[in-house]
Amino acid sequence: MKANIVLLPGDGIGPEITKQAARVLETISSKFGHEFEFSSHLIGGIAIDETGNPLPQDTIDACCEADAILLGAVGGPKWDDPSAKTRPEVGLLQIRKELGLFANLRPIRLFDQLVDASPLKREIIEGTDILFLRELTGGIYFGESGRSGDGEQESAYQSMIYSVPEVERIVRLAAKAARGRGNRLTSVDKANVLEPSRLWRQVAARVMAEEFPDVQYDVVLVDAMAMHLINRPRDFDVVVTGNMFGDILTDEASMLPGSLGMLPSASLGSGGPGLYEPIHGSAPDIAGQDIANPLATILAVSMLLRHSLDLNQEAEAVESAVSQVLMDGLRTADIARGADAIGTEAMGTAVIERLI
Ligand code: NAD
Ligand code: IPM
Ligand code: MN
Repeated sequence: MKANIVLLPGDGIGPEITKQAARVLETISSKFGHEFEFSSHLIGGIAIDETGNPLPQDTIDACCEADAILLGAVGGPKWDDPSAKTRPEVGLLQIRKELGLFANLRPIRLFDQLVDASPLKREIIEGTDILFLRELTGGIYFGESGRSGDGEQESAYQSMIYSVPEVERIVRLAAKAARGRGNRLTSVDKANVLEPSRLWRQVAARVMAEEFPDVQYDVVLVDAMAMHLINRPRDFDVVVTGNMFGDILTDEASMLPGSLGMLPSASLGSGGPGLYEPIHGSAPDIAGQDIANPLATILAVSMLLRHSLDLNQEAEAVESAVSQVLMDGLRTADIARGADAIGTEAMGTAVIERLI
């Protein structure tokens, strides 16, 4: 198979982890006889520094022509000034919007070998396997925002908006995903307070009753969900929620497998290229030290192979190489819990050695 893969390394640890993930893709390509072509483009803070724009047109064009996109992370203290004209994160939000990537799949999968790396107790987390579907191109992230007044009188606002079709399409996708797994779907909202959540709840209930009566369905308020997630994570199968709730709950959920450095994600639309990235950020506190965990991004490669290229065997090969590395006791610092750790590059190499 021929595939054109766009790399968007971004900022902080982004380039370090993307480099290891690209090495894994190259290994897959030669081992399985594919022709993957790579091109690297600017996004985020580095794009602001070089072009003044966090998402240059050249990057958008390359992404539109790609078969799949692999992104590291964007952002960092250098670009954090709240009065700056633009921000790295704008580039990421804009590429999601440009490509219509409304569904963000965030699987929370525990590797048995890492159960003791979690800050939570083994008896609580063992057996956890959750798929989050986070709505990605709507809600408060994309609502109208602004400021008015000056000084002590200044105020700011950002609206949360959801439309019926936006809720329908993400709920449908989540329900279909549930059918392929444990057949259970939980919708998370804040319908006791927020109007868009009440619309979300009504639409979700209708879609489930009319189109998915066979899927076991329930709703949970987001504040309670934050608690249930670390108290009884095994009770959840597929979870569907809005943009901001999904962002927050999945960082929380990363403590089930033990580290943000273990969680990949896939952002998909209806047709067109998918975008694959770890759920974590640019980790400025550890950037440039060769200590970041590249496994989230390597697992994002596995999602890329499966969802965008339909290469299931190759996707499984990557997952079992990761599993084998962990079985062999290799750990980056974030999952070593004080024991000996290896670096980013060495972890990439260890995965590759188990692939060939
Ligand atoms: P972060 O996810 O970058 O880091 C949170 C903590 O987790 C840090 O202590 C970090 O060292 C650790 N961590 C994250 N990834 C790791 C990895 N692969 N290996 C080991 N440890 C890891 O979140 P933050 O510090 O709140 O944000 C930093 C910047 O990243 C901000 O500018 C934010 O906007 C941006 N961000 C970008 C993305 C993205 O590009 N998708 C996602 C989240 C945050
Ligand atoms: C994520 C990040 C982004 C988000 C930021 C960097 C825009 O936190 O991908 O989870 O909030 O969606
Ligand atoms: Mn996030």
